[in-house]
Amino acid sequence: MESFQNLQKIIQQRRSIKPAQMNGRKIQDSEIEELLFLADLAPTHGHTEPWRFIIYADQALKDFCTAFSSLYQKYQSPEKFNEEKFIKMQNWHQHVSHLLVTYMHKGTNPKIPEQEEYAAVSAAIEHILLAATAKGMASFWSTSFPIYHDSLKQYLQLTENDILMGFISLGYSDWPWQPTKRMIPLNEKFSWRK
Ligand SMILES: Cc1cc2nc3c(=O)[nH]c(=O)nc-3n(C[C@H](O)[C@H](O)[C@H](O)COP(=O)(O)O)c2cc1C
Repeated sequence: MESFQNLQKIIQQRRSIKPAQMNGRKIQDSEIEELLFLADLAPTHGHTEPWRFIIYADQALKDFCTAFSSLYQKYQSPEKFNEEKFIKMQNWHQHVSHLLVTYMHKGTNPKIPEQEEYAAVSAAIEHILLAATAKGMASFWSTSFPIYHDSLKQYLQLTENDILMGFISLGYSDWPWQPTKRMIPLNEKFSWRK
């Protein structure tokens, strides 16, 4: 029962905390490795284990922010381009400690459909978000443009078997915690059959 209550508390406490709300305090690399170890324990049909992470920190994170914001500036359509967002992207590294660029590496087992590979990576990401919450870290899963643009895949040197799943920003925050909201009542999301 105690285990359930601990897990319940961690799940309830997990919130998306945007990079701008992170305070720049650094996480130790060893703690990131502990999160990755837990990510690797996600369920995986056929042991395809399709989760992959590129971990950016320090100067490499700064360089990534420069490159990513440049791709946004180059490829975002003029009507959607947002100067404020562009500046925020450039400054991510001032707030975020580590950025995990997360992608799905398609397995070769023909019995495992692609949606199950996405599902497994999502489960791995959730392990990271919950473990980060348990460690008092702030976390944010985002997919902002140009995440699905080929230019980013090229920059990251990914192959056609790799599908980007998001950025996980990790850091610390002084932001006052507030409970999350849900728009659709829970009882509209399940039905019992007995
Ligand atoms: C696949 C995925 C992609 C997301 N991408 C973004 C994003 O690009 N920008 C953003 O503000 N939030 C993004 N979010 C976070 C959601 O906005 C956030 O989870 C939602 O508002 C609920 O808040 P909570 O996580 O604090 O409960 C994403 C979440 C998921 C699952």
